[in-house]
Amino acid sequence: MNDLELLAAANKAMENAYAPYSGFRVGTALLCADGRVFTGCNIENSSYGATNCAERTAVFKAVSEGCRDFSAIAIVSSGGGETFPCGICRQVLGEFSPNIRIILRNKSGETAVYTFQELMPKIFSL
Ligand code: THU
Repeated sequence: MNDLELLAAANKAMENAYAPYSGFRVGTALLCADGRVFTGCNIENSSYGATNCAERTAVFKAVSEGCRDFSAIAIVSSGGGETFPCGICRQVLGEFSPNIRIILRNKSGETAVYTFQELMPKIFSL
């Protein structure tokens, strides 16, 4: 799946976002090395702290299905501009794939691609 197709899959996944508290909807599509794609959305909770980001939804779906090697993740949001993954999600992505490409869409609809190393050069590791 190419970058534009991944962005389209993320956009579709955003339809399932459960975001009644923030109103900020996020969708992701995670491409695995074996070609499988796992989508995700943010899932909020009234306790706030139990909220799960769209990136981690996709990662946890993939890992639970046996995929740990990720090539790329596309992230879109209802915010419009580039939506960068939060720090916790960067740490989780880096646990499995420190060379993953992060595909975003800017306000003009253009695709922007970042390396994981640009966004998170030194992750915590044991
Ligand atoms: N959110 C994500 O889904 N991914 C991120 O990387 C940052 C934030 C969600 C969590 C919450 O539902 C909403 O965006 C506002 O923070």
